[in-house]
Amino acid sequence: MGSKSNCVVILAGGKGTRMKTSKPKVLCELLFKPMINWVLDAASSAADGDICVVTGHQNELLEAHLKGRYHTVFQSERKGTGHAVMQAKEFISQHTGNVLILNGDSPMMDSETIYQALQYHLEGANDVTVISAKISKPTGYGRIVRDAAGFLKKITEEKDANEKIKKIDEINSGAYWFKIPALLEALEQIDNNNTQGEYYLTDAIGIIIRKGLRAAAFTASSSNIARGANDRVQLLDLNYRARQLTLKTLMLEGVDIPCADGIIIGPDVKIGQDTRILPGTIIYGDVTIGSDCVIGPNSYIVDSQIGDNCSLNNVQCFSSKIESGCAVGPFAHIRPGSLIQNNVRVGNFVEIKNSSIGEKSKVSHLTYVGDTDMGKEVNMGCGTVTVNYDGSKKFRTVIKDKAFIGCNTNLVAPVTVEEGGYTAAGSTITDDVPERSLAIARARQVNKTGWTKNRK
Ligand code: UD1
Ligand code: CA
Repeated sequence: MGSKSNCVVILAGGKGTRMKTSKPKVLCELLFKPMINWVLDAASSAADGDICVVTGHQNELLEAHLKGRYHTVFQSERKGTGHAVMQAKEFISQHTGNVLILNGDSPMMDSETIYQALQYHLEGANDVTVISAKISKPTGYGRIVRDAAGFLKKITEEKDANEKIKKIDEINSGAYWFKIPALLEALEQIDNNNTQGEYYLTDAIGIIIRKGLRAAAFTASSSNIARGANDRVQLLDLNYRARQLTLKTLMLEGVDIPCADGIIIGPDVKIGQDTRILPGTIIYGDVTIGSDCVIGPNSYIVDSQIGDNCSLNNVQCFSSKIESGCAVGPFAHIRPGSLIQNNVRVGNFVEIKNSSIGEKSKVSHLTYVGDTDMGKEVNMGCGTVTVNYDGSKKFRTVIKDKAFIGCNTNLVAPVTVEEGGYTAAGSTITDDVPERSLAIARARQVNKTGWTKNRK
């Protein structure tokens, strides 16, 4: 703290009663990403300042989520946005430049808008710059009140507004750049003489103006940046808007989405040119997908890296890496910790967990591969199982290059099949298989001639 001249304060103490959640509201998710993370990411990439989060309702959950990566202050009672900022007074005082205040529950505030507003703030030598937006249904938001010449006069909250003010369609986004001394002085003068009996941060604007200091509103180009959600119904609307934005961005970068039905893609997902995404596909978290892939239909990909030229048809893939040229599915499950190397084929009804599959290997049908290190050009026959768990411990299976595992083999770990080793179909392998050898581990067939004749 205090290493930068600018700083950021994110207000996240509110309860969000109408969201009906057991978590702090800012942990509710937009496109599978907690609202607070949208705000933190926008602040980190645009503001170049130390960040402080004001916590309150269920602060332990929020603290656990932030994992000590940001400075936090605790607001013990919810007495309004002005009161929330006052809790961060000491943090703010350790900086000398400008402070950005952000609402933790306005996830669509973006880094470009924050950055442009800072430029506007600096060029105008403003003491405060409010980020505003024009919106068709302004109900619920604070209104930007300007004088006849268009200069910012004050912000009036919905609940304190008369009919004339309620008609104003320019609203306060809840984001502001303040010169630090101007904010610290104004905070001392905010009172709670209003309908809600709260200390409104918005009153700082009127206070600054009355002192003859410079205040202005920077009107953002999109109304989305100000939008929040108070309940799950509004959250669906917000999800719809955010989803349209992420899909549009991807399409303009060359991602092919012939039909967007059921496609949800998180804001941090990167996808290469000419990759096609098919309906029913959900991708979120830290995901990178290369170019010329076909993803979907009905695939679910979280926190994973996918190379170029892959097809993932009806695949679930979590915290794993799939290199280039792989064909996966239909109906395959890639569980965390897996590495599927170049040009591998993983076929239908295959589950792979915490395993590495070497280049050009094939695991084509009905197979479980768990805790396995597999080399190159291995062929796993249909119905093969790595028996990795004895009920208390997990063990690894090693299958070296060019091994050939016969259909319906059980590989009872820990066990190694050396390079070029074969297992006979239906074998239960409990001992290592030497190089280029065939292991047969099953009973010989006995034919009982005429047996059915003597039955009954
Ligand atoms: C606020 C603004 C309003 C603006 C709107 C934009 C005020 C008085 N009003 O209204 O002009 O249009 O945001 O979304 O600032 N919080 C705390 N502690 C508190 C109260 C709030 O940490 O005591 C946090 C909340 O968790 C939330 C943020 O501050 O993240 C905004 O508070 P909220 O009560 O939602 O303000 P709005 O009524 O939406
Ligand atoms: Ca709000």
